[in-house]
Amino acid sequence: MTISDLQRPSPMVRSGHVQLSIILRETYKATLQTQIFDQIRSMILNGQLRGDDPLPTTRELSVQLGVSRNTAVLAYERLIAEGYIRTKPYVGTFVSPDLPDTAFLSARGEETVEKTAPQDVGEAESPGAALRTHQLAKPDRRRLAADFWVGRPDARTFPLKAWSQHIKGRLKSASPRLTSYSDPAGLLELRQAIAKHLAPARGVIADPEQIIIVGGCQDGFNLAGRLLVTPGSTAVVESPCYQGAAYVLESLGAKLHPVPVDRDGLDVTKLPKVDGALAYVTPSHQYPIGVTMSLQRRIELLAWATQYGAYIIEDDYDSDFRFIGSPLTALKGLDRNERVIYLGTFSKCMGPGLRLGYVVAPRRLVESFRRMKMLMNNGQSWLEQAAMADFMSSGEFGRHLRRIRQLYRERRDALLNALTKHFGPCEVYGDQAGMHLVWKLPEGLPDAAEVETRGLAAGVGVISLATGSALRFGKDDGGDRMLMLGFVALTEKEIEDGVARLAAALRD
Ligand SMILES: Cc1ncc(COP(=O)(O)O)c(C=O)c1O
Repeated sequence: MTISDLQRPSPMVRSGHVQLSIILRETYKATLQTQIFDQIRSMILNGQLRGDDPLPTTRELSVQLGVSRNTAVLAYERLIAEGYIRTKPYVGTFVSPDLPDTAFLSARGEETVEKTAPQDVGEAESPGAALRTHQLAKPDRRRLAADFWVGRPDARTFPLKAWSQHIKGRLKSASPRLTSYSDPAGLLELRQAIAKHLAPARGVIADPEQIIIVGGCQDGFNLAGRLLVTPGSTAVVESPCYQGAAYVLESLGAKLHPVPVDRDGLDVTKLPKVDGALAYVTPSHQYPIGVTMSLQRRIELLAWATQYGAYIIEDDYDSDFRFIGSPLTALKGLDRNERVIYLGTFSKCMGPGLRLGYVVAPRRLVESFRRMKMLMNNGQSWLEQAAMADFMSSGEFGRHLRRIRQLYRERRDALLNALTKHFGPCEVYGDQAGMHLVWKLPEGLPDAAEVETRGLAAGVGVISLATGSALRFGKDDGGDRMLMLGFVALTEKEIEDGVARLAAALRD
């Protein structure tokens, strides 16, 4: 075998038979026969199949692709007629050794296979192609010496021992519940535990009936969006805002209406005067900037919603962590006219791998939320809900929160100290709460994108707004000079070393 043989992508071979990797799409405009013809032809043109390579029989191909034998025969007949393949009686079908001229076009660069390959055309046409998604951390970031990635809790704080005990305990008596459908709104015990937690922690007085367990806030955005967005309707979002929410609303047909954010949160004087809008806000710790919406603004936002018949999605994603003063009552806690859909998540205080969160729905929408959740996925996994309910009702959740809040506060302090030590007095936003803060880069330092690049080269992950899943609506929001720093997943030493490295990299 030569090196070029090793490098050449080969068709899959199974139990002595050749199996071509062909993907057929029912929705695709070309017939199945044409799709088979096009794809085999492309494999020959781009060198995946070469002269005298064996091909499956038409019977094998029809079984593999689930098409009629006749479809496979007609595709092969076209390939034979155009000289791409040939049959040897009683032996089989092979790629022609004397390929037609067109076979060499791609090698000469006159026609690229990528341009003509039906798979590519299909993807460009598919409805999902235009969907925008928010960023997830790339796995190779683990190799960084210090990664200030945002929104990620410290995995080492997960209460594994208690969690395993609750899972084991539940499994012992699980039988029918593990294998049957249950209420799509979620396990009642968990909804009761959440209602009990929310009252003192967030000032939200909710009946367990109003609570729908979801697969994290992301599921909650979808649920609320499917109920409340109609094509062309207005979705008010903060500018800048969290991509994960904005993209869902946009995908459902909403027109995004950005409203600027300042030190007091959303600038309510810029809210649109239109009826029936949906607004998405992060009042406790604005994403990405980190500011807290003032009480005055909260009251004005609620008044706007009442006046214009709008609903507000309140994303309270990291409100478990408040480091200075006492937490402001959630918007939902002030909502006398039932305009707020409250979203909470266990992603930040437990871990996003759990995919557990909750919606507190306005009373008049509860039944619609329940039905939509049923249509979407019939509810969350019973076992995790049960373990979470036990973890909360045993009092362990409260203790866990107190422990990690203290730990995260120490890490926040370490970050503030390290920034001051290496860069002098710093202007920061959002350090009173949450899992990340925003550092406004001082004059003399490059902009955030450049700092991010230089940091990465030095093994330090610091995040510009775009990398941190923030959606911006123009360059005049000051975001170019804002750097996001997640501090909870790093030890104090890692934080100090990371900032020192960053300072050295920027000095160089
Ligand atoms: C603003 C905001 N909301 C919500 C979430 C959490 O989403 P989920 O509960 O789906 O994990 C994140 C995650 O980073 C976020 O940044």
